[in-house]
Amino acid sequence: MSLSQFKKTAIGVVFAGTFAVLVANAGGEPESVAEDEQTLFHGMPADEGRLEVFGFCGSCHSINLVLQQKLPREIWDEVLIEMVEEHEMLELNPEIRRKVLDYLEKYYGPDS
Ligand code: HEC
Repeated sequence: MSLSQFKKTAIGVVFAGTFAVLVANAGGEPESVAEDEQTLFHGMPADEGRLEVFGFCGSCHSINLVLQQKLPREIWDEVLIEMVEEHEMLELNPEIRRKVLDYLEKYYGPDS
């Protein structure tokens, strides 16, 4: 198992645990897992890059600080540089950085 697969599995286990707690606490009709997932991810569309954006960009501040912006890709790129240079974010490896930018451009761009 590669490290990234391992991380995905580990994160999956944490989410599965959270779902179980949510369902257990719901009482009456349990919400569907799909709804729970939307709640967990603050409505972020399911697509490649969602887990990376949610995990990296929601670790220091609320993910909503990110999701409320609608920025072109060049500005997202600058935001990522700013996070590294001014806010001590760890530099993302190129593959993850590309996934994060692709996702932000697709769903949190000026026209979305
Ligand atoms: C190591 C911590 C850290 C990480 C990780 C991090 N940020 Fe930030 N971010 C900050 C801090 C600190 C601020 C400014 C203070 C605040 O508003 O909470 C900030 C502010 C922001 C802002 C508000 C506007 C601005 O420029 O100040 C945006 C947008 C943002 N971050 C986007 C992101 C995105 C996108 C990611 C993921 C790639 C990310 N952040 C990851 C620390 C971080």
